[in-house]
Amino acid sequence: MATRILIFDTTLRDGEQSPGYSMNTREKLELARQIARLRVDIIEAGFPIASPGDFEAVKVISQNIRDGVTIAGLCRTRDQDIDRAWEALQHAERPRIHTFIATSDIHMRYKLKMSREEVLESAVRAVKRARGYTDDVEFSCEDACRTDQDFLCQVVGAAIQAGATTINIPDTVGYVIPWEYGERMRDLMNRVPNIDKVVVSVHTHNDLGLAVANSLAGVREGARQIECTINGIGERAGNASLEEIVMAIRTRKDIVDAETGVKTEEIYKTSKLLTTITGIPVQPNKAIVGANAFAHEAGIHQHGMLSHALTYEIMTPESVGVPQSRLVLGKHSGRHALKKRLQDLGVDLGEEDLSKAFQRFKELCDKKKEVFDDDLLAIVEEQVLTLSETYVLDHLQFASGTNMIPSATVRLRKEDEIHQESGCGDGPVDATFKAIDQITGMHPRLKDYGIRAVTSGKDALGEVMVSIEIDGQTIIGRGTSTDVIEASAKAYLNAINRAVGRNAPPEKEVKEGV
Ligand code: KIV
Ligand code: ZN
Repeated sequence: MATRILIFDTTLRDGEQSPGYSMNTREKLELARQIARLRVDIIEAGFPIASPGDFEAVKVISQNIRDGVTIAGLCRTRDQDIDRAWEALQHAERPRIHTFIATSDIHMRYKLKMSREEVLESAVRAVKRARGYTDDVEFSCEDACRTDQDFLCQVVGAAIQAGATTINIPDTVGYVIPWEYGERMRDLMNRVPNIDKVVVSVHTHNDLGLAVANSLAGVREGARQIECTINGIGERAGNASLEEIVMAIRTRKDIVDAETGVKTEEIYKTSKLLTTITGIPVQPNKAIVGANAFAHEAGIHQHGMLSHALTYEIMTPESVGVPQSRLVLGKHSGRHALKKRLQDLGVDLGEEDLSKAFQRFKELCDKKKEVFDDDLLAIVEEQVLTLSETYVLDHLQFASGTNMIPSATVRLRKEDEIHQESGCGDGPVDATFKAIDQITGMHPRLKDYGIRAVTSGKDALGEVMVSIEIDGQTIIGRGTSTDVIEASAKAYLNAINRAVGRNAPPEKEVKEGV
């Protein structure tokens, strides 16, 4: 019978701690809900002692996510780390304390400045302390893959004896080659007493592009838990990507002889939600969730596909929930039809959000002949990013041309007041942003600006994504319109509204050691 592999999602911890991916508590909870719908087994919600924001997020997720999902919190082996982790996790239906310490000579000598004996003792003490709080304790040997194998066996054995129920073997720096990782695993399985009584876990980074392959090599040797992230986000080149691992296991069940509990049809939606929240897209050729993952451009491929899909398709887009971009609704479609179509796409909006989406849909129908699924998703995604709209775009007028100074007039609504300003700039977008700055009194630095067509055709909806910096914090904004200057204004305002209304994630206090 196929081995059941546990999927441990660390998007909100290892993924979130990489630059540009920080999320606030509300966003983390929203993503955690979707990850739970994906039916992973464990969600690592954060590193509670790292900052008050991390603590809050782990606590809120522990309080809100149920349905049998285990919530894990990371901590070093220090007493106060473990206590703080438990403080955040105690509300979870199934809490897990995940404690770690580095075991490689290079980390022990230069980072921890501890001897092997001290590390061993610290690991044992931490596991015992964590077991005082919960029966579910994971222990990780950081930089395991550059650790002396005899010492690795010794630490793992001691952690099991102290009560660890899951043992994780991270390739922290993405250094190993699949068969090397496999050999280390096999050796551990053969040499460590009682290792068959615990769950052995793999945790691989992608510095050499081998994270997924290494994880699968670990599974081949008996690992039963895989730690991974949505879209493979994570430190440097990222972690093993959840969607790639899960689909590899599913598609090649004949070889891997394993299965996961993941509802694969939720993969695409989860990936999209993450890119919407962080504003960082996946590359078009990204396996499973990239825009081209299921596109067959070459004539010979298309011919084969038309004759029989399996000629070039090893899995279907439907199996990962990629929506077909079809003409769905038009000018005369009602609110009910919109609700139904969104539900078919897996989006369940409350009445208030549905009203907003319906209004945007009607506006779009006035400007665009054909409305596709992707257009609908773009409308909804824009709403997801809007926490509270302090400023609403009421009116925009701009002028630009070959021999004139571009100018813009912007009118914004703030509660019941209307504010209007004009600005000049290098181009109409710059002029619009300057007018918005004058009204809001905020002068963020524009770090990044990107534009794309949501669907094909000259009347396609344009989506603008901006990244602005305010008080050292980077905030993403997104806006859509058939007019790219209007989409730019909306994206910029979206980011400003998020800056005004958000529960800002505080700076991480603890970075070292992870
Ligand atoms: O990569 C790593 O070693 C980690 C551990 C803290 C599990 O993320
Ligand atoms: Zn890691």
